[in-house]
Amino acid sequence: MFALAPLALLALAGLASAERVRTSLNDGWRFARFTTNPDSLSYSVLQPWMMPLANDFIVTGTKYPAPSGTAPGPNISYVQASFNDNAWQQVDLPHDWAIAGPFGAPGISGGMGRLPTNGVGWYRKTLTATADDVDGTKSIFLDVDGSMSYTAVWLNGNLLGGWPWGYASWRLDLTKHLRAGNNTLAIRLDNPVENSRWYPGAGIYRNLWIVKVDKAHVAQFGTYITTPAVSTTSATVNLVVQVENLGTATRQVDVTTTIYPLDAAGIPATAPVATIKTTTASLPAGAKLSLNGSATIANPRLWGPPPTQTPNLYLAVTTLTSGTTAIDTYTTRFGIRTITYSPTQGLLLNSERIPIRGTCNHHDLGALGAAYNHAATVRQLTTLVAMGTNALRTSHNPPAPELLDLADTLGLLVLDEAFDCWSTSKTKNDYHLLFPAWHEPDLRSFLRRDRNHPSVVFWSIGNEIPDQGSALAAREGAALTAIVRQEDSTRQVTTAMNAASEKDALPGTVDIIGLNYQGEYGSYAAFHDKFPGKMVMGSETASCISSRGTYLFPVSTSNNARYSAAGGADATTKYISAYELGNPGWGGSADAVFVAQERGSPWVAGEFVWTGFDYLGEPTPYGGNGGARSSYFGIVDLAGFKKDRFWLYQARWKGEQAMVHLLPHWTWPERTGQVTPVHVFSAADEVEVLVNGVSQGRKKKGGAGVYRFRWDEVKYAAGEVVAVGYKGGKEWARDVRRTAGRATGLGVSVERAVIDGDGRDLAFVTVEVVDEKGVVVPRANNTVTFEVAGPGKLVATDNGDPTDMTAFPSASRKAFSGLVLAIVKADKGGRGQITVTAKAEGVKQGQVVITAK
Ligand SMILES: *[C@@H]1O[C@H](CO)[C@@H](O)[C@H](O)[C@H]1NC(C)=O
Ligand SMILES: *[C@@H]1O[C@H](CO)[C@@H](O)[C@H](O)[C@H]1NC(C)=O
Ligand SMILES: *[C@@H]1O[C@H](CO)[C@@H](O)[C@H](O)[C@H]1NC(C)=O
Ligand SMILES: *[C@@H]1O[C@H](CO)[C@@H](O)[C@H](O)[C@H]1NC(C)=O
Repeated sequence: MFALAPLALLALAGLASAERVRTSLNDGWRFARFTTNPDSLSYSVLQPWMMPLANDFIVTGTKYPAPSGTAPGPNISYVQASFNDNAWQQVDLPHDWAIAGPFGAPGISGGMGRLPTNGVGWYRKTLTATADDVDGTKSIFLDVDGSMSYTAVWLNGNLLGGWPWGYASWRLDLTKHLRAGNNTLAIRLDNPVENSRWYPGAGIYRNLWIVKVDKAHVAQFGTYITTPAVSTTSATVNLVVQVENLGTATRQVDVTTTIYPLDAAGIPATAPVATIKTTTASLPAGAKLSLNGSATIANPRLWGPPPTQTPNLYLAVTTLTSGTTAIDTYTTRFGIRTITYSPTQGLLLNSERIPIRGTCNHHDLGALGAAYNHAATVRQLTTLVAMGTNALRTSHNPPAPELLDLADTLGLLVLDEAFDCWSTSKTKNDYHLLFPAWHEPDLRSFLRRDRNHPSVVFWSIGNEIPDQGSALAAREGAALTAIVRQEDSTRQVTTAMNAASEKDALPGTVDIIGLNYQGEYGSYAAFHDKFPGKMVMGSETASCISSRGTYLFPVSTSNNARYSAAGGADATTKYISAYELGNPGWGGSADAVFVAQERGSPWVAGEFVWTGFDYLGEPTPYGGNGGARSSYFGIVDLAGFKKDRFWLYQARWKGEQAMVHLLPHWTWPERTGQVTPVHVFSAADEVEVLVNGVSQGRKKKGGAGVYRFRWDEVKYAAGEVVAVGYKGGKEWARDVRRTAGRATGLGVSVERAVIDGDGRDLAFVTVEVVDEKGVVVPRANNTVTFEVAGPGKLVATDNGDPTDMTAFPSASRKAFSGLVLAIVKADKGGRGQITVTAKAEGVKQGQVVITAK
């Protein structure tokens, strides 16, 4: 696990001081969802009370005064202490109210995942303050990492403000209305229909924190670290610290920052490598001041992507002292590296060309929905890293902050994206409604939150903006790019374009030409020629679609086939062939993209494949009525099971790993004697395929532009098919598929057998439907039921089938292509053995034991 809590780690190293206390406010909430508005409130009523929060992030626009008059809401019973919420649901955050289903929610399209995201949600919690909390010397903040959406907060009946955009991270000052003893915190969300093109989630779906600190302190997102001069022997570290004084008297504060190297586990060294000299500041009441400092680190350990580089990190510990008393300790993790965006060489990190081998991913975590979960995020990212990926695009919105911590640790290069639309809509209730008032605060707060992460190497101001050729898009693109450059000049800016011409104005306003799909159809060169000073990359590529383990015949002879009813798709079952050739027409197969990338080598910097994991919503091509619930684009399915495509990318991106992968499965009683093509993904020089020991031929790797080995004339015969890969004439790796018999049992395994008993860590349990010999029955669809005994609970089940409309919390689920997933958590404080039993009619049950500690 990569659990990173810098302050806790500092405590380990004996460096912590208790001046700043940041505690989770995730547990013990009451919640109710209303499909019709239960109060008289709306965004238009609440907006004037939200806008002042934006002031810290408005530089060019007009700031908002606090509205006069009575704030709305005190007469709504939910904000009142006397309201009895015992009938409301008990929930812990992060929470997604829609993920439990059922599917088929009225008014929610297939594109949005058919789950009940819409409605007004109220959350309530008693917040107990000590006399010390309210002694007048401290500020108490509520930090919201993400809340979907139009969120407003009342404390003891007082409306404190809120923030409408669901992907923003924001802060409220509770101090004024907090009193010793019990306080009533009430939070209202309003999630409209048609607010997204994918599954947005619903609720307070990211972490919530209480921060308690001296009234003079480092402000929110208050440090900015850059490394303008880096060599192997020395690095200059520039630091800007923003300090604020929310007290009523002028304060003298000393500001010192000490820098420690972190080891691979994220533990700081005991000795600092640099100290940024003390600055004394006189902070008038209400003032906010930025202080600059600089230091040099000798022989810096650089941050860079594996396998050729190491993601070394440093920790800056900023201490504020008043007299001899430390009053605030604020930590910032950062990395030291150089980035070169070369129009002729692509992307260089620390002077080494790094081909971008990236994937795009939406923020949902499959059966867990949008609710942030660390174990599930670790599982997604490490699965992608095992494929050889080195980059990630946070399509199409700011991610959970913890995801960037993980990317820093893993050495992933992040394309951090702000928006999916500007002032022109894509759906009726999407961000275009907020754009006029909020684009500046949303963009600046996002940049200030994320700009210290070494993993972030690109900023994207938008994805597939409507009317890319219009003067309006160019004007808005230029304005957003200008904001990015003001907040961070150390990275370049892109916008992901899918319908731009090199003659349009928009591409000229950004630094990097990011092309979605257009590159596969020849546009890389046109843009490269028109903009010789700009780097070019595939910001979104492929859009290959498939259903894991589902092979359809006949198989196209093209390595880049458009799916159709005549080939590659079955409109009755709504499955798309796992030969991994099909795309919906605007994209291409993985193979076709590799060809386009090679054609532009080395100046095309690389690609971000659409998508790493399947996601909820956008079930192209079955998004209509009666269609599917989740995407077919993933290289990995929604349950986290790898599709065959995983190994096609691994062969290209991680060619040093000995690996041969063959498809399809070899259990086709109805195809005996029929042509059943065998395809192999491998970085071997040569591969031989044998059916029941009979060679089907040994083939050398194809010429330029051929990325798979194909035996298209193989006739099926029960038994086994083997693929043997050779390098330099010697066997390098092999793969085999054996014909399965009747299903007789369930093979149960778990990815991590020991989990934390914290109520949050998860175990991912896989069930394989197997025959007597343990061979997976590749088309098994037995209904598997889970029972969990001991100090744990079943959270959800899935199988990766985009058409499965069984609600995710169900303990019973059909196998899809032989597999079922159960997600299990330990109870909070749970210790000992959790037994997960899987049962299905007519077969032997299976079991696995997880230890909670
Ligand atoms: C609260 O007061 C406002 C303003 O007077 C009014 O419009 C609204 O209907 C009242 N709501 C409730 C629940 O009483
Ligand atoms: C304060 O709240 C807690 C938790 O809800 C409750 O157990 C306790 O009785 C409350 N105390 C008072 C004085 O109301
Ligand atoms: C402080 O640093 C910021 C960001 O690097 C820079 O824009 C500003 O000019 C610096 N101010 C001073 C006084 O050096
Ligand atoms: C399971 O698979 C069999 C054989 O392919 C099929 O006839 C049946 O309809 C499937 N059952 C379900 C519940 O999908």
